[in-house]
Amino acid sequence: MEKVPVFDPTPRIKERARINSMDQYWQMVKEAESDYEGFWDKLAKEKINWREPYTKVLDESEAPFYKWFVGGKLNVTEQCIDRHLETKKNKAAIIWEGEPGDKRVITYLELYYEVNRFANLLKSKFGIKKGDRVVIYMPMIPEAAFAMLACARIGAIHSVVFGGFSAEALRDRIQDAQAKLVITADGAYRRGKPYMLKPVVDVALAKDCESVEAVLVVRRNNEEIKWHDHRDYDYNELIKDMPARCEPEIMDSEDPLFLLYTSGSTGKPKGVQHSQAGYILWAQLTMEWVFDIKDTDTYWCTADVGWITGHTYIVYGPLAAGATTMMYEGVPVYPDAGRWWRMIEEYRVNQFYTAPTAIRLLHKLGADEPDKYDLSSLYILGTVGEPINPDAWMWYFEKVGRGQCPIVDTWWQTETGGHMISPLPGATPIKPGSATFPLPGIFAEIIDTDGNKKEPNEKGYLCITKPWPSMIRTIWGDPDRFVKSYFGTCKKDGKPVYFSGDGAIYDEEGYIWITGRMDDVINVSGHRLGTAEIEAAIGHHPRVAECAVVGKPHEVKGESVFAFVVLKDDEGVADEMELIKEINEVITKDIGPLAKCDEIAFVPGLPKTRSGKIMRRILRSIAKGEEIKQDTSTLEDPSVVEKIIQIVQG
Ligand code: PRX
Repeated sequence: MEKVPVFDPTPRIKERARINSMDQYWQMVKEAESDYEGFWDKLAKEKINWREPYTKVLDESEAPFYKWFVGGKLNVTEQCIDRHLETKKNKAAIIWEGEPGDKRVITYLELYYEVNRFANLLKSKFGIKKGDRVVIYMPMIPEAAFAMLACARIGAIHSVVFGGFSAEALRDRIQDAQAKLVITADGAYRRGKPYMLKPVVDVALAKDCESVEAVLVVRRNNEEIKWHDHRDYDYNELIKDMPARCEPEIMDSEDPLFLLYTSGSTGKPKGVQHSQAGYILWAQLTMEWVFDIKDTDTYWCTADVGWITGHTYIVYGPLAAGATTMMYEGVPVYPDAGRWWRMIEEYRVNQFYTAPTAIRLLHKLGADEPDKYDLSSLYILGTVGEPINPDAWMWYFEKVGRGQCPIVDTWWQTETGGHMISPLPGATPIKPGSATFPLPGIFAEIIDTDGNKKEPNEKGYLCITKPWPSMIRTIWGDPDRFVKSYFGTCKKDGKPVYFSGDGAIYDEEGYIWITGRMDDVINVSGHRLGTAEIEAAIGHHPRVAECAVVGKPHEVKGESVFAFVVLKDDEGVADEMELIKEINEVITKDIGPLAKCDEIAFVPGLPKTRSGKIMRRILRSIAKGEEIKQDTSTLEDPSVVEKIIQIVQG
């Protein structure tokens, strides 16, 4: 590996950080190594407001269905709201800014009332009870957070669906979870214009969603929407009459808290199921360790609540930590590429957490834009979702952080619930592009499939070799798929261990460098997409015989979607542009615009082995314009490779 710069934590960060030396870090790592359960036991006792204590820290008897803090009782909304009322009832819990510039500040006491009223509404009007599934299809408005917390208050399981997903994708998720209620909004604002959500819900529910009894609609942009009298309910009207207190449902540590659908390498998206105690413990702890959150801080994560980052690091983590969390409705470039920097100045943001794709976009559109603002309030910068290239890292570090703010490059996943590998801002010397080291208590290792640790500079499987409290508990309704997807690839000491799907390498100093997915999952602008899902969508176009989708490196998005399509007819593709448009329309309808293809090549055939397996590695190389190094002689029809190259490279 080439030599890369290393940046030590600056004294101003060390002074305030909870963990402020590598010695302290290694000490914690050792504690977890020598007494794993004891390590977590101490933290769980210290950090969680238990209604009833647990009787066992970790139950491995049904591995890999691990159980944490067995027998413990709690309600995560008490952890996130009630327990703060004594000391910070008037502190801002959520600061929200709409894209048009409208603002709301919600104190912890107000949040308490909002969530309690919402919870009462769910119970009294819709009969929602513990264990029922509620789909939340919302824009970035405070009511999205209220809705999640209201579900948690009464023990209902929420499943937030990102507002960019199409009606079909929403329907799939509603059906899989058998949701009883859908909470949505009329619409919101994006790029200066209203965009609508309720009409998408209408389309989703028009077919095969018998489980849904009602739709609750929050008014945000007040655009006209169709109203179904016996199904749709007006939140803004109903909420007024709700009592402001709702006794929390007392939950078991292991009761499900939420489902969040994410893409795998095959088949439909899977409902990742998280539980109560372990999840909230780690959400809070990582806020303290990784963001070094303090009582006076204003913390801003720019994610959408439709993704795990929004769950853990906009809603649950910051609130459990008693922090002030910011929420922003719109895009980073409206009305100009200075929007976020202006907001950091205005709200004096202390921790700022975003995705590499946004950094690259803002770098490209306004390299000097940060100079125009006073960003001196910033202490810590964070990134998440995809590998960050050193150029983007350096710009973020120098321009946004003025060389004063450590960047925490946090590696984790929907399935891990919270950060797994990340620098500690007051301790870890950072290198641009490396997520550095596993957090204390997290046994992230780069191994081969038999569990042997890889040597420096050798790529291996990124695995977590011990269970951890915030881990995925199962895939909703499909425990076999859970076992197969995550525990079917790697073993250590003969025992199946969690494989993340990512490859990674150690450098000479043991720093971890994520190399990206080893499976057929691609990462477009930090959005995780399964190539199988996109291929299934493309296959719905009547002229398509078969296709294969691969990711291609992209300057801003990280990866772009490249499809190789074989048509049924041999009429040729005289109407290529029209056909590309139609195929993208099918993808938009089935999944959403986020999965649209950047490039489509119409090819006479796909490179397949004699057993019919598509050799995607060859297609990836072709998409990248690389020389083909793979052996093509074993292909069913080796000549097809040359033909595809001709078409793609002209
Ligand atoms: O490939 C890794 C990449 O994002 C995947 C997880 O996607 P998702 O479940 O949608 O969660 C994203 C937000 C946590 C991982 O398998 N990824 C995430 N963070 C990083 C990353 N790749 C490199 N560096 C990261 N910091």
